[in-house]
Amino acid sequence: MYLRKTILATGVAISALATASFAHAEPTAEVLHWWTSGGEAKAVAALKEDFEANGGKWVDSPVAGGGGDAAMTVLRSRVLSGDAPAAVQLKGPAIQDWAEQGALADLNDVAEAEGWDKVIPPAIQNVMKYEGDYVAVPVNIHRIDWIWANPALLAKVGATEVPKSWDEFNALADKLKAAGITPIAHGGQPWQDATIFETVVLGLGGPEFFQKAMVDLDEDALKSDTMKAVFDQMRKIRGYVDADFPGRDWNLATAMVMNGEAAMQIMGDWAKGEFLAAGKVPGKDFICSAAPSDNGYLFNVDSFAMFNVSGDDKVAGQKLLAELIVGQKFQETFNLLKGSIPARLGVPLDKFDDCAKKSEADLLAAQDAGGFLPSMAHGMALRGHLSGAIVDVVTAHFNSDMSSDEAVSRLVEAVELAKD
Ligand code: BGC
Repeated sequence: MYLRKTILATGVAISALATASFAHAEPTAEVLHWWTSGGEAKAVAALKEDFEANGGKWVDSPVAGGGGDAAMTVLRSRVLSGDAPAAVQLKGPAIQDWAEQGALADLNDVAEAEGWDKVIPPAIQNVMKYEGDYVAVPVNIHRIDWIWANPALLAKVGATEVPKSWDEFNALADKLKAAGITPIAHGGQPWQDATIFETVVLGLGGPEFFQKAMVDLDEDALKSDTMKAVFDQMRKIRGYVDADFPGRDWNLATAMVMNGEAAMQIMGDWAKGEFLAAGKVPGKDFICSAAPSDNGYLFNVDSFAMFNVSGDDKVAGQKLLAELIVGQKFQETFNLLKGSIPARLGVPLDKFDDCAKKSEADLLAAQDAGGFLPSMAHGMALRGHLSGAIVDVVTAHFNSDMSSDEAVSRLVEAVELAKD
């Protein structure tokens, strides 16, 4: 243990580093995050408790808004006004962006003492490091391409499982609709539209196509017939949502599946955190099923980046928080609540449910098959201006009667412009 040392005599746990190098500093961290739904709040409370139990003072800065767009706006204005929070929920290439601007503190001393290079998978290390230095720590691995379903509603139309192909999916949704059941619970917010879109890109195009279109931004892939078929499928899905979908928060859509108001939701596995927080049992009250694809897996790694702050208490707080986050105990406790699986290697999954076990098994299979791919919708694949260009077109198409042909030409144009 680099930082933590339990003082048994007093029953108080404090940071060894804080006591050694920062004699009078109480490790303090202001934590900016967007975990405000029921399941998310339980998960972040586990981090706060762990931090406090180890002598830290937690200053909570939640910014509501699924997917984190609102939180990122707050972050930019905080940094511009010279008042960066100590620890920020940040992901993928955005970490590199902030590091390039010199805004992030390096965590190499903690990394070395804790042996992070041995316990963080190399692909995730690349995201956490800037020019070889650790500037962020991974919390979990979320999977995007899931369908969450209400088994009682599926049973009403004679279905016992979630379809394994998109044709079957449409057939089931048509049946549900004909039976007066809303097939898809959806919240019309750009990031939610994009979550469905990338799941369909992976499903209809396959992993290689996803890589070309959503990661490499290859023009041929973006303007292909496959991409047109993706927009056709999005149009179908638009016909499967209820009239009140615009602006709805994702967790309210999850609640619709829970309460029998809609049959399925296409959403990352933070949705499982909602079901669990409401006391629902996987396999009984809800079904988790990978969305149809050929051994694909869209990953989304939540992480915290540490911003440059001054004050011994804050620096000690950052180091303590980083150490705890990568720790085995935290990775288990947090992910049991959050719906994700640990980012740290070697954390046993015995206490996890079948959805988490499936996530891990599918992840390994996807890695072997070349299908382990970064989420575009959740900021893992592209820098913000590029994913923003794609998401704008996806949302404009979903909320209008734009043809698939037009959507594809707009997509190509928007990406070209954003690349310049
Ligand atoms: C984050 C999740 C979060 C979800 C909804 C995603 O981008 O990675 O941790 O639960 O957004 O807010």
